[in-house]
Amino acid sequence: MSNWCEWPPRFLDLKRKIVSETTQERLTASWNDLLGELATRTAEIAKAGPDFVPQVNFADLDKLTPEEISVIKRKGSVVIRDVVDTKTATGWKAELEEFVKANPHAEGTPNQDKQFFHLYWTRSQVQARAHPNVLKASAWLNNLYSVKSGKTLEGVDLSVPLTYADRFRIRHPGGHWGNFPPHIDSGAIERWEDEAFRRCYEDILTGNWRQHDPYELENRLNARMSLYGRPGQASVFRSFQGWLAMSETGPTQGTLRVFPDVQLSNAYVILRPFFRPTVLEDSPDILDPKNWKFDISTADFPGIFPLDRGYKGPLPTPRHHPHLRLRETMTSVPQVYPGDMVFWHCDVVHSVETEHTGSTDSAVMYIGAVPKTPQNSAYIVKQAQTFLVGQNPPDFAKLTDEKMFVGLGTDVDVKEPISRVAMGLPIEVA
Ligand SMILES: [Fe+2]
Repeated sequence: MSNWCEWPPRFLDLKRKIVSETTQERLTASWNDLLGELATRTAEIAKAGPDFVPQVNFADLDKLTPEEISVIKRKGSVVIRDVVDTKTATGWKAELEEFVKANPHAEGTPNQDKQFFHLYWTRSQVQARAHPNVLKASAWLNNLYSVKSGKTLEGVDLSVPLTYADRFRIRHPGGHWGNFPPHIDSGAIERWEDEAFRRCYEDILTGNWRQHDPYELENRLNARMSLYGRPGQASVFRSFQGWLAMSETGPTQGTLRVFPDVQLSNAYVILRPFFRPTVLEDSPDILDPKNWKFDISTADFPGIFPLDRGYKGPLPTPRHHPHLRLRETMTSVPQVYPGDMVFWHCDVVHSVETEHTGSTDSAVMYIGAVPKTPQNSAYIVKQAQTFLVGQNPPDFAKLTDEKMFVGLGTDVDVKEPISRVAMGLPIEVA
């Protein structure tokens, strides 16, 4: 449920402000057009399976055709093969395993059999983020964004990748992970409530969803993704979230799932609060556009949930977002091998498979693509300070003092100039 009764009346005002009654006709036509497109596209996705997610070789990134790039942009997710060699990636996993053995008090979940670790500065992680190929992949992804107005944005350089220290998982076979249903990260009600963030979706909200460009940069940079200061929300702008595989992992083995059409999911999730079904949610005719109607008489935002004096979501569900046909369209990424990376645009609906039916670990380090922007640059200065003293990065709760651990990465693990810039460290190793 979307707990509509807990919604403050100001969200009703917000809805009305965003979409005045005068645009009702236009918005309804656009919504109906969107539902038609979703019907076609979701059928295609459901039929295709994991191969629908584009796969490219790291070595070919600069050789892709405009058509191939536009497919990647439309789908919003990509597997990049062989970013680092197998030996390096499996070596990092082995070293992480040693690290957690040597530091049994390291925070992780589940408590009895830790697999998801709240660790940021192990040597493997520091080296992986600093790897020039990882940074090159990041810069390539950052450059999929552009500034529509053609303005030069001060302090912005998409070709300079920065690093965002995040965690890793070594997921064991079996078990049940229920904490990662389909969701979008980095901003909940803020997508509508914050004016700059809302401008990212302006074309959708004015009835022109086909013009919506999820890769327009300017408004992203001013968007406030965290109006309520909830803990655990990234305060940097990641053009793509991502991970680096340290094991061979295929569909059904606890891997990532995505809804592989970011333009369509954005259009639908953003417009959904302004429409309601006129039949019961479990009606067999729920998908029929005739059974939906423009309605801004309630303050609810389906898929957004009050939490910690703020809001979490969007969490699209089959019940509240039926046209995404999530049960059939959440697509597992294809088989990955150690050294491959998977990236998904910051707006992509994604989840983690609840079951792991394989017989070996599914191990990844979370490494997103982060461009140089004023806000991101300011963050990495603070992040570098935490690195040098072995504390959790600024965006993450201070659960333990990492400096007490054995086997942390240090300044000398960040060698190349590109890596030192990315980490906010002086070019010369101290
Ligand atoms: Fe996520």
